[in-house]
Amino acid sequence: MIGRLNHVAIAVADIARAADVYRQTLGAEVSPAVPQPEHGVTTVFITLPNTKVELIEPLGDASPIAKFLQRNPEGGIHHVCYEVANIRAARDALKAKGARVLGDGEPKLGAHGRAVLFLHPKDFCGTLIELEEA
Ligand code: CO
Repeated sequence: MIGRLNHVAIAVADIARAADVYRQTLGAEVSPAVPQPEHGVTTVFITLPNTKVELIEPLGDASPIAKFLQRNPEGGIHHVCYEVANIRAARDALKAKGARVLGDGEPKLGAHGRAVLFLHPKDFCGTLIELEEA
């Protein structure tokens, strides 16, 4: 069902500093920071030959990653995003297998303008999974 790894998202408290680490220390191709108020985060995309890394920093008072950073002040891997061909078909198949979909279960437009859903980490080896329609 799942296809390519679309991205790994890393939550950070200071996105400028994190972008510098990836640009200067790791020598990666790093995008400018983009505020995404509708998602409560600022994002930086790091393009690798086979996938992307997404740095996310809290934006606003009700950021969905604020609690994560309270627990992980140094930052850390927040979620992995796998591509699926049809997000509603994937959701229905996963729910039929007992997996929990977060929120109201309806796909939302994600940071890349594509339909996404999140799956409960307790059902997936302690990892928050984002599904994105490819
Ligand atoms: Co993501």
